[in-house]
Amino acid sequence: MTRTLIVAACLGAAALLSACQLGETTATGKADVSDGPTIVAATDIAAGRYAVMIGGCNDCHTPRYAMTGGAEPAEAEWLKGSNEPHSGPWGTSYGKNLRLTVAGHSEDEWVHLLETGISLPPMPWPSVRAMSEADKRNIYRYIKSLPGDPGQPSPAPSIASTPPA
Ligand code: HEC
Repeated sequence: MTRTLIVAACLGAAALLSACQLGETTATGKADVSDGPTIVAATDIAAGRYAVMIGGCNDCHTPRYAMTGGAEPAEAEWLKGSNEPHSGPWGTSYGKNLRLTVAGHSEDEWVHLLETGISLPPMPWPSVRAMSEADKRNIYRYIKSLPGDPGQPSPAPSIASTPPA
């Protein structure tokens, strides 16, 4: 009986300690919203994954994801680029392989790309630009953490010869 109580007390203390540590993590930087809103999570990777989820990146950068309501493919296959075409007045574009983009850029270069990027629709550049710098960095770290080979480039876009005025 006594032993059970001691174990329970230790578990309680451990839970409290990790709660305290989480609190500290958020207090030292990640919860700093003086420059504007930003995602707060236990780790950079968790924050990046969350940003990818709510940013809808998989809808266009991962094949089958949008059509299966997110059921497919497995996370290990996420963000390897898609061969599903997006056609419109701009021509036809394909969600690029972000694993390769991350592999070919430093974290600072990725932040710069997300701040200044412009390309064919329907890539939502205004949404990506509006993210905090921490969110941009955490997306990079999350994509870098994904397992497996980075895959192949997605098909090259074809640009309409007479773009809309
Ligand atoms: C509605 C579709 C769509 C969504 C949602 C989307 N993208 Fe894209 N993205 C594209 C397309 C299409 C391209 C390629 C455009 C082109 O070929 O000019 C692209 C290109 C990019 C590029 C340029 C890659 C390179 O190597 O040049 C980056 C970076 C990128 N997207 C990041 C993101 C991130 C991060 C998210 C989620 C927050 C996201 N995208 C959500 C469609 C989308």
